[in-house]
Amino acid sequence: MERFSIIKPDDWHLHLRDSPYLESVVADSARQFSRAIVMPNLNPPVRSCDDAAAYRERILSSLPPDSRFQPLMTIYLTDNTSREEIAKASASEFIFGAKLYPAGVTTNSDAGVTDIANIYTVLETMQTHSFPLLVHGEATGQSVDIFDREKRFIDTTLSAVRTDFPQLPIVFEHITTRDAVDYVESQDDKIAATITPHHLLINRNAMFAGGIRPHHYCLPVAKREEHRLALVKAATSGSKHYFAGTDSAPHARHTKESACGCAGIYSAYCAIELYAEAFEIAGNFTHFEAFMSLNGPAFYKLPVNSTELSLERVEWTVPDTLAFANEDLVPFKAGELLQWKVVEHG
Ligand code: NCD
Ligand code: ZN
Repeated sequence: MERFSIIKPDDWHLHLRDSPYLESVVADSARQFSRAIVMPNLNPPVRSCDDAAAYRERILSSLPPDSRFQPLMTIYLTDNTSREEIAKASASEFIFGAKLYPAGVTTNSDAGVTDIANIYTVLETMQTHSFPLLVHGEATGQSVDIFDREKRFIDTTLSAVRTDFPQLPIVFEHITTRDAVDYVESQDDKIAATITPHHLLINRNAMFAGGIRPHHYCLPVAKREEHRLALVKAATSGSKHYFAGTDSAPHARHTKESACGCAGIYSAYCAIELYAEAFEIAGNFTHFEAFMSLNGPAFYKLPVNSTELSLERVEWTVPDTLAFANEDLVPFKAGELLQWKVVEHG
């Protein structure tokens, strides 16, 4: 196979940041994807429908002139989110979910939820409206080993939420472990999971290859090889539980190459090509279109895109750096060869 076409994909988990950085990154996503679920972890966060409407306008006005890219907005849950705001968000035509960041878990999560009990009435409203809960599924706290945080979250929080709100649609975002795959497999179709291209392509050794590698540091952190293999198996399986969500999270180079570097990997520049690389290495493109373009819309009850995109087998090198307002940004796989290239957009 040297060339193939798929229905144009969507990115079900994306960080676009805000001006002046937004303008530098949004075109990368708009070039490859039709739609993206846009994360609300700005500073201050996107907490209300009004915040989401204003952010959406800023995104739309930063797009290249002929772009038809659609940002699908989310709101950020706090201990004080009201049921009324959730009811309003679920009725909105441009808000598609509410994001749970356990407080302190990742970039701009300080205003997140300090105890899941604090949002139980909100979860009840979300369940009533079938409004998706998007979760950063990691337990917090100094006592939890960073490599165990995802499993601990499943055991202490996610299982209870599923038992208490069995009809609530949940996206378990950017899963990184075999434990998460096993958990999702054991559940019904009310729960789905996104998988990033970097978690399909690297394991935790990549953070320490010959020295500390800040551009491979993200949250949740990459895990052991056995976990990467479980993710590859899940993504390539065709199961409706899994779909693409890049978690592309740009941070200026100097904020990553630092004594206390930021978490986040920038994959939007070549996200589809990175997913293709992972499926190529797995030697199985059978369910590539389902993972990239069909399973996500089915879960979110949205139409499948009507245009196509083609990929061609051609070697090319990812740039070393990209512009990021007045700073620079190192993309995932910078300076490395990829084997597939997007050649045509519908
Ligand atoms: C994200 C960011 O920088 O906003 N970072 C990351 O490592 N993925 C936040 C997140 O999704 O955890
Ligand atoms: Zn993210």
